Amino acid sequence: MSVTILDLIVDEHQMFSSRLKEQCLRSEAMQRSFVEGFLRDFFIHDRAEEKVLYQSISKLPHVNKETQCLISSFYSDHSQIFSLISDLKDLPSRERRHRTNVLAENIGFHFKDEEERLFPVLSQLFSQQKLVDMGQLFLATKAEISGGLTLTSIHKHIASGKSQTNLFSLSP
Ligand SMILES: [Fe+2]
Ligand SMILES: [Fe+2]
Repeated sequence: MSVTILDLIVDEHQMFSSRLKEQCLRSEAMQRSFVEGFLRDFFIHDRAEEKVLYQSISKLPHVNKETQCLISSFYSDHSQIFSLISDLKDLPSRERRHRTNVLAENIGFHFKDEEERLFPVLSQLFSQQKLVDMGQLFLATKAEISGGLTLTSIHKHIASGKSQTNLFSLSP
């Protein structure tokens, strides 16, 4: 059976969770390099998710309010998680360990929400073949984003608040 975008994202979620667990055992110098690598990889994952997954949903004519609200909250989650990761770098060791646990908890909630609340909706909205095609697009988009990406450009992007782009105009 072909790999869907949902399979790819779940695999990446597991990889990020394992890396955060291992992080607690690292030395001071390794912790610093971990932050930069993790920020870069997480940035690519989230931006590709926004471009391929969230935007595909936003283009559909009939998306219910609950799903719209869920996607909006995911943009905020991404933004908050980017800030938590980038703040880690300048902290003293003990504080960084504590904040890494907070980060792991936040990321865990976000992954759980995506997988348990959004993915079942996606399986209903899109055919299996469409989800496979979206998987290919997700990988191509990640490659495109990572080309020429620097930490400076990531920090600029985070500071500009572009991750908070809300594709749905939610009426009260
Ligand atoms: Fe996400
Ligand atoms: Fe994700």
